[in-house]
Amino acid sequence: MKKNIVVLISGRGSNLESIISAANKKNFPAKISLVISSNRSALGLKIAEKNHIKNFVVEQKEFSNNELYEEDLIGKIVQQDPSLICLAGYMKILSKKFINKFKDKIINIHPSLLPDYKGLNTHERAIRAGEKYSGCTVHYVTEELDGGKIIAQERILISPSDTPETLSRKVLEREHIIYPKTIESLLS
Ligand code: GAR
Repeated sequence: MKKNIVVLISGRGSNLESIISAANKKNFPAKISLVISSNRSALGLKIAEKNHIKNFVVEQKEFSNNELYEEDLIGKIVQQDPSLICLAGYMKILSKKFINKFKDKIINIHPSLLPDYKGLNTHERAIRAGEKYSGCTVHYVTEELDGGKIIAQERILISPSDTPETLSRKVLEREHIIYPKTIESLLS
């Protein structure tokens, strides 16, 4: 039987879509049992809907503090008994309490060769610094932002004509391969 995974998103949802496609294959070890978006207008919600995947919007602004927001999130996730919680463009920082609740079960994809370029605007910073390579990294989520143990990484060459937009597209293509592949290897 396929294991449950929960995917947390905040926006476009292209990584979510790549995990859905992989999970639709018979031999993939997991299925997405729930998608939660931190943002009501996330395009990824439409992707979940189209694929008939249960989804919720849980916006921080509906709660008086972060603890209550996360309690709601935890309640919804626990019901799925997930083997993995996959952050896919989820743009909120999770608390120690949340991370400990799902110890070693939360993974994230980040658009840089970690430990380089943690945080935002990774492509712009890599180009400005004259880096030869960029890429993407799947890592465990710990309290340190983008600092957990690296599980998988893909490197790509930055060409002199690359802009943050072209580089982002190239890296994203790799993200769509590496993320489902990593989930598959973790759960097989
Ligand atoms: C992806 O490039 C992902 O690596 C990045 O946000 C984008 C989400 O795209 N995540 C981070 O920067 C997390 N620190 P998507 O919504 O189309 O999957």
